[in-house]
Amino acid sequence: MTQRRIQLRPIAGALGAEVCGADLADLDDATFAEIHAAWLEHQVLFFRDQDLTPDQHKAFGRRFGPLQVHPFLHSRKAEGHPEIVVLESNEARPVVAAGWHTDVTFSETPPMASILRGVEVPAWGGDTMWASTTRAYDALSSTMKRMLDGLVAIHDTSKTFSRGAYPSESHPDAEKTPTAIHPVVRTHPETGKKALFVNSAFTLRIKGLRPAESEALLAFLYRHITTPEFTCRFHWEKNSLAIWDNRCTQHRVVADNLKAHRRMERVTVEGDRPV
Ligand SMILES: [Fe+2]
Repeated sequence: MTQRRIQLRPIAGALGAEVCGADLADLDDATFAEIHAAWLEHQVLFFRDQDLTPDQHKAFGRRFGPLQVHPFLHSRKAEGHPEIVVLESNEARPVVAAGWHTDVTFSETPPMASILRGVEVPAWGGDTMWASTTRAYDALSSTMKRMLDGLVAIHDTSKTFSRGAYPSESHPDAEKTPTAIHPVVRTHPETGKKALFVNSAFTLRIKGLRPAESEALLAFLYRHITTPEFTCRFHWEKNSLAIWDNRCTQHRVVADNLKAHRRMERVTVEGDRPV
């Protein structure tokens, strides 16, 4: 699709492009169609100077689909916005999500998209990195691809929310720990591309392998996915906004400025069951 209303500036070889010429608070259908096509192609898009109200943030998310309410993370629920997750860190409470992950894969239907906006950001540091799991899959040998196709993995919150590793409104107890089983390689429902779908935050083990086999294979895949050539890195400014395709990417914050005040707000768009 030819972009007529927006301009795209890729920021890395594997994924990520900055979008100019779009006001997300006032978006017509044709501009949204260009943004959507660019998002599928580049996997994560960045916008600057988007001073959105909570309603505008949610309205942009709803262009992609119904919004999800996160089961554990702190939100702006008290102000009538349970869909807006608040990720805040400062000297007293340092950044916590400093590991590579895909959002909410402990759910049977993990979100399709996450839309994160910088509300208070540090002058330096606190960048976010993304990795393309389609690019990582494509780079594997055909022998490894054959081995992974058909495998499934168990995902849960035992390494994250259940341990209280994230500030959250409620901690699931052992009996209620959400668990999901997903293919190790999923096929993107819109692009048809195959992507690796295991992550170090929520993947517990690969079914059918002995524990040592599962650990070794997952350790290889996590390292492989985060190969620098499969990643991009974004520096936040106040009112920067990123939207990523949660079906074919992982991300992490770079926790190099822990004392600075950093407040991010996120909405997530419901996804389908990975296949
Ligand atoms: Fe995340």
